[in-house]
Amino acid sequence: MALFGGNLYGPGVNYVISNGTPFLFNGLGLHPVIRSPINHMSTPPAKPSTSPLKVRVRLATEQDMPAIQEIYAHYVTGTTASFEEDPPTVAEMTARWQRVQARGLPYLVATKGKRVVGYAYAGPFRERSGYRYTIEDSVYVAEDAIGRNVGNALMTELIERCIALGFRQMIAVIGDSTNASSLALHSRHGFFVVGALSSTCFKFGRWVDAVLMQRILGEGDNSLPPKHPGRRKSRAKR
Ligand SMILES: CC(C)(COP(=O)(O)OP(=O)(O)OC[C@H]1O[C@@H](n2cnc3c(N)ncnc32)[C@H](O)[C@@H]1OP(=O)(O)O)[C@@H](O)C(=O)NCCC(=O)NCCS
Repeated sequence: MALFGGNLYGPGVNYVISNGTPFLFNGLGLHPVIRSPINHMSTPPAKPSTSPLKVRVRLATEQDMPAIQEIYAHYVTGTTASFEEDPPTVAEMTARWQRVQARGLPYLVATKGKRVVGYAYAGPFRERSGYRYTIEDSVYVAEDAIGRNVGNALMTELIERCIALGFRQMIAVIGDSTNASSLALHSRHGFFVVGALSSTCFKFGRWVDAVLMQRILGEGDNSLPPKHPGRRKSRAKR
């Protein structure tokens, strides 16, 4: 199967996944992203064909942390979507959530009834102050809810909130160049591939690539940024 990605927002960089091997197209030809052998067992499962799940997206609370920890732990222990190797505890996930909150950045959950079926948040891309208008997104959907539009719902809300906060660029560091669902989700939301860091992770006994995708937020570099990113112009949404 070939999966064609990329989009019209970027400067002409696209990707193609053919028989599980991703290729970047940069105008000079197709270049395989991967130099390392692929272990399909450790990449997230292919998209199941199920109906969309209607979810509510809201800000995360401390009560959501056990469910979030469970969702994330699955991907840490079983896949290369995350480059962590030991699942963080609920206390650690709570501390991470608090750090995101302290920066005024969005940390969202998608719920079906009372159950948390996915989460997404924005964190600083890099700590050096010049990077302050650039953020990195993270998004994870419970294994039994993937491919049902939950990722779309979370990303739509996350991007909208980050634009309102005055951020200008969003970066996705995608764990594993074979991660078709994450490549597709980000491409669908206006991200374009800007590069790949080959074999920068070692997990499950093999070398793993990271794919870098970028999305322009709001006016991007077409205007000067607000003085302080992270402060909403309008009243904060819950
Ligand atoms: C990546 C992830 C968040 C996407 O969320 P999701 O709920 O499964 O995705 P959605 O159902 O909302 O689909 C989003 C888009 O991607 C497409 N897509 C999703 N999975 C796909 C796959 N395996 N192959 C091709 N396209 C896929 C969908 O068709 C949809 O596009 P459309 O709106 O144009 O139809 C989710 O699969 C996940 O948690 N994966 C494991 C963890 C992970 O990789 N997180 C990202 C870390 S960078």
